[in-house]
Amino acid sequence: MATKDDTAATSTGKLFTREEVTKHVDTSKDVWIIIHNDVYNVTPFLNEHPGGEEVLLEQAGRDATEPFEDIGHSTDARQMMTKYKIGELVEEERTKDGGKRTTNWTRGNEEDSSSSWWSWLIPIALGVLATIVYRNFISAH
Ligand code: HEM
Repeated sequence: MATKDDTAATSTGKLFTREEVTKHVDTSKDVWIIIHNDVYNVTPFLNEHPGGEEVLLEQAGRDATEPFEDIGHSTDARQMMTKYKIGELVEEERTKDGGKRTTNWTRGNEEDSSSSWWSWLIPIALGVLATIVYRNFISAH
């Protein structure tokens, strides 16, 4: 049950801690899921989910942002979700990018730029090497 310590009313609904959500894993009676820092009570939706209730039960009490996004849910699905939203995570426990833990674009770009260095440095080095070898070959004759 929610206590005064870990919940608070806001204009958008209640605020919950991740720990509070983990208590709602009672299959078919009480299933909560976190997606993009929002908390959903998907209990009435279990039977209706086109992807089946199994996948939702697997995510009960957890942050399902990643699997939810991996499936590539439609806009319809995203609109449907709003019906089951019961609140949001408390400020301190939110993920900055809305719950997408897998993608770090900044780091991704750094990796990309360092690997692109090699992708043009190696052909150039080979070109220079070929020129040297060729010149030596020509001058040897
Ligand atoms: C309240 C939350 C959710 C809603 C409203 C929802 C809604 C839907 C809808 C409408 C579809 C049909 C396809 C589409 O329109 O995209 C679907 C498919 C599916 N969903 Fe969800 N979903 C929710 C959460 C989840 C979660 C957390 C998972 C994964 C763990 C999941 C896994 C799937 C799978 C596997 C399919 C089938 C995809 C396919 O057949 O290609 N869904 N969902």
